Amino acid sequence: SLRCFSLHSLPDELVSLQNMCKTFAQNKLKPIAPRLDKEGIFPKEQINKLAKLGLMSICVPKKWGGSEYSALGLAIAVEEIAKGCSGTGATVSIHNCLYADLVSRCGTEKQKEQFLKPFTTTGNVGCFALSEADAGSDVSGITTTARLEENHYVLNGTKSWVTSGSIGKAAVIFATVDRQLKHKGIAAFLVPLPTPGLSWGKLEDKLGIRASPTCSFILENVRVPRENVLGEIGDGFKIAMVQLDKARIGIAAQAVGIGQAALDVAVQYATHRKTFGKPISEQQAVKLRLADMALRIESARLLVWRAAVLHDESKKCTKESSMAKWAASEAATFVTHAAIQILGGMGYVSDMPAERYYRDARITEIYGGITDIQKLVIGDIVIKEHGY
Ligand code: CAA
Repeated sequence: SLRCFSLHSLPDELVSLQNMCKTFAQNKLKPIAPRLDKEGIFPKEQINKLAKLGLMSICVPKKWGGSEYSALGLAIAVEEIAKGCSGTGATVSIHNCLYADLVSRCGTEKQKEQFLKPFTTTGNVGCFALSEADAGSDVSGITTTARLEENHYVLNGTKSWVTSGSIGKAAVIFATVDRQLKHKGIAAFLVPLPTPGLSWGKLEDKLGIRASPTCSFILENVRVPRENVLGEIGDGFKIAMVQLDKARIGIAAQAVGIGQAALDVAVQYATHRKTFGKPISEQQAVKLRLADMALRIESARLLVWRAAVLHDESKKCTKESSMAKWAASEAATFVTHAAIQILGGMGYVSDMPAERYYRDARITEIYGGITDIQKLVIGDIVIKEHGY
């Protein structure tokens, strides 16, 4: 299907996927998004439905109950879902990219039976526990330890900012077997939830994506069977990095969805609201602003799709996915800011969605690696590409 991909016409199967996600998001998510946001509700029922539609296992092989779409399919689906409800988009994107795809890529057959199959169509959500209070950007500095005791690893430490942490049914938890080894001492462990020794920190009270619950994991002698190590001891850092290449595509797609939703509401408002005897869309200041918004969204979407296509062609896409995330997240912040400006007072109150889009956009510049990290990643690769 990728061979017939062009920027003008998506393959039929992706158009169908896009339509299905659009219909679900506009009918089932958009109407409830304000309440989910205001009350901080996790949309369990809607996640179950999304799972039944194959959207919690977008790229997982059919063999494991997945939908087996490409990364481009993932980008298209996440954009549409985030357009309807960005908090739900966060759950879908992080579960797919940082849990299901990770287990699918690195798990053994036995691990997939336990940790992948029950997470494809049931609505069970998986988590990715990498960051710590003092090690978010500097992954090799994590301090959660894993000590081998006969056939178990014993995990101790605290993981922060775990998306879906409070509702997740399993997590990939990263810990170090020897801090001296820095990134070479990190391993990834599959842990069912709940599990003895693991408790949850308080639910974070977030600026945006409030339908997506975030908390920390406190690990006190959590015993993990040796057979639950993903890959080998020492592989954890690279497992996380390679997976983040994909997750950044998902987060960038979420950002494009938020931006598109903001542009849509801005155009709708601007063509109806009148000042000085005509719709404000006919005032040049507003029309130029709409054009600027549209340009940034379209450019970001192309970068997201390019990174996804490279990923689908099994080419390295580290630089491109960082570029997509940087561009799309800043586009989302710019566009949602501009949407509020166009809506004026109506942009500032929760009767209209623009203020929520603005709050939701900000996370895309933060999670999955803050923008400054994306710039460092891109800078390193650009210098290497020039032979230095
Ligand atoms: N693919 C494959 N290998 C990679 C890689 C990639 N994308 N990035 C690095 N590596 C390899 C390097 O080649 C190197 O390999 P060797 O040991 O063989 O030489 C090794 O990994 C170490 O690489 P670096 O020296 O570049 O590592 P570093 O310590 O300097 O860190 C970093 C690099 C880019 C800053 C990295 O730490 C990073 O990406 N930080 C941000 C982390 C992040 O995105 N966190 C978000 C967590 S998820 C989250 O937000 C929660 C959620 O639920 C959404």
